[in-house]
Amino acid sequence: MTATICGTGSYIPSYTMDNHDIARMVETSDEWIRERTGVVRRHIIREETTVSMAAKAARRALENADVLPEELDLILVSTISSNVILPCAACEVQREINAVNATCFDLSAACTGFVLAYNTALAYLAGGIYRTALVIGSESLSNLTNWKDRGTCILFGDGAGAAVLRADGGPETAAEDSGLEAGYYFPVTHSDGSKGSALTCKSRHDFNGLTDADRQGCPENMTDESHYMQMDGQAVFKFAVKRVPEVIEEVLALNRISTDEISYYILHQANKRIVEAVAKRLGEPIEKFPMNLQEYGNTSSASIPILLDEMNREARFAAGQKLVLAGFGAGLTWGASIVEWHR
Ligand code: ACO
Repeated sequence: MTATICGTGSYIPSYTMDNHDIARMVETSDEWIRERTGVVRRHIIREETTVSMAAKAARRALENADVLPEELDLILVSTISSNVILPCAACEVQREINAVNATCFDLSAACTGFVLAYNTALAYLAGGIYRTALVIGSESLSNLTNWKDRGTCILFGDGAGAAVLRADGGPETAAEDSGLEAGYYFPVTHSDGSKGSALTCKSRHDFNGLTDADRQGCPENMTDESHYMQMDGQAVFKFAVKRVPEVIEEVLALNRISTDEISYYILHQANKRIVEAVAKRLGEPIEKFPMNLQEYGNTSSASIPILLDEMNREARFAAGQKLVLAGFGAGLTWGASIVEWHR
């Protein structure tokens, strides 16, 4: 048994900050940011939260898929920036959309998070355990951004994207069939915790090493900058341009698919130069690598589903087309999955 994406949705906060706004906060310029990253503006939460954006993206995806909330068996939220720890964001989304039959949990793997959440849902569906799943990437990275650090604050933005997955074939098929059928593609994923220091952010609930004054104060009073995202930009850049083409080649070889068969590479939207370098190393035309990072910046696990939703709504996909989803980021983590479009 396999599963296909039958609907997508997204939510983007309306408030924007362009590069000129950032240049009023730190020593940088619109020209520098565009040239080094491709980012022009980013959308930032005001009233929204990670959960409220996730729920809005979820509603839109369900509507697009023509699936009722009660049909959902699984809700998975990928996030590193949830406004809630308990209950998990996925349970909060369940409550908001009234998906009474769903099992819900969150997954945290930074910018590879959506690919890993998609793979997790697919495994449940392909294994015949669930029939219908909602996979969401939602991030409020502005809450984790040190707005005094020009090395990172230029990069990130907020938003949410979602996809509904439905199992193909009935439960009878799963019982008869012990194996995985045509249309199922094996993902490839990797992690290297030994390189984790390249991109870090301490939990605001980690009081280890704080002074007594800090412990008595609320987290907002803490001055420790390790509670914001800290990044060795060059190390992350080098990691991405090496590992992303490698993992894409690996997933294509594993599934015996050639680059000619791939219509689009939907990469995590971190940096225009990373996307261009990946296209070059794969020897593929840049037109196969859609980008929207100029508008949203890096939205971590939300970037892939936001791009998927935009392309779906612009009718840029056709039934039978194959896409590669590729994520990479903190951990370090990276991975790629092949999606066959069936809508
Ligand atoms: N404006 C102006 N100058 C700057 C800025 C800025 N915003 N930031 C750094 N500089 C300066 C530096 O201080 C340095 O000056 P110096 O030469 O006088 O020392 C110079 O610019 C070059 O700095 P680098 O860090 O070498 O700049 P680089 O070309 O590497 O660009 C960047 C920095 C954009 C962060 C790049 O390294 C990058 O994109 N890395 C990948 C980051 C990324 O994608 N992270 C996210 C992936 S994982 C995830 O999504 C969570």
